[in-house]
Amino acid sequence: MSLKDSLESVENDFLTDFAKTSSASDGVALKQKYLSRNGLVTNLFKQLGQVSKDEKPLLGQLLNQLKIDLSTKLDSLDSSSNSGPDSLSVDIAMPGKIYPEGSIHVLEQTMLDIKKIFAEIGFNIAYGPEIDDDYHNFTALNVPEHHPARDMQDTFFVDNDIVLRTHTSNVQIHLMEEEEPPLRFIVPGRVYRNEAISYKSYCLFHQVEGLFVDKNVSFAQLKGCLEYFAKKMFGTDRKMRWRPSYFPFTEPSAEVDIWDEQRNQWMEILGCGMVDPEVFKSVGYDTNIWKGYAFGMGVERIAMLKHDIDDIRLFYNGDVRFLRQF
Ligand code: DAH
Repeated sequence: MSLKDSLESVENDFLTDFAKTSSASDGVALKQKYLSRNGLVTNLFKQLGQVSKDEKPLLGQLLNQLKIDLSTKLDSLDSSSNSGPDSLSVDIAMPGKIYPEGSIHVLEQTMLDIKKIFAEIGFNIAYGPEIDDDYHNFTALNVPEHHPARDMQDTFFVDNDIVLRTHTSNVQIHLMEEEEPPLRFIVPGRVYRNEAISYKSYCLFHQVEGLFVDKNVSFAQLKGCLEYFAKKMFGTDRKMRWRPSYFPFTEPSAEVDIWDEQRNQWMEILGCGMVDPEVFKSVGYDTNIWKGYAFGMGVERIAMLKHDIDDIRLFYNGDVRFLRQF
């Protein structure tokens, strides 16, 4: 067989062998078979000395090319995707890549905690509109136009009669318009106020509203419910106090403060009270039969107290150095 024929036959054999490789270790065996000191290609080079002067340059060139092609093909095995776990190019002792993991925002975590606590004691969860009319946000809650109580919350107006809700209390009205009593709901959501911004006040924040309407509802039940909540949320040792207050939609009304360990002072977390009969009248509930209590709590402040966060603005600036801590 001439050297040229041998060369072609070696090349064909190699292609057949190569097609059968499935791992880098097969590649090592092929390298041995074709390119080692006694390999088939190396032997072809040895025969080059016996061919005529005329043929030598061309055959030499073909042989060199064959060697390069084979090596390139075998090298490609090392990095190809079908290289299995025994692939020589993979250092299995090398530490893996660490991809940064996302996490649930601390506000959302707090929302979930609050929802869970109330769901366990029989509250349903409802949602309502963030853009609402003046009637649901104020008038139906016993805050008529020109009433000084409107100044308690600085309002963003969308239109003459349309506001960004200043509290989740608007949903009390929607719920009672849609459902017959008795009812027991919490309403998580965003609210908006055109307020001076500080460490504890922001133009946008979250509240969870609560509303319980039934035949015999007492202030003692309201107290029991919110004390249960505070203990679940902050632990049994956290100091809590009740203060008498005023809201147009409740009578009597109160506010609850939690001791702020960081600042050594009280921080208000919620307003509450017995639903004012005027509110029941706006939704057509019979005030001789139905009684109720309601509350509205600030989610950011609860999260601040629970996790020792010292500025409400941290919830909104998306700084991962802050977010990663939770
Ligand atoms: N809506 C009040 C506020 O945002 C909080 C509040 C007080 C809600 C008393 C209530 C309530 O449901 O009964 O300041």
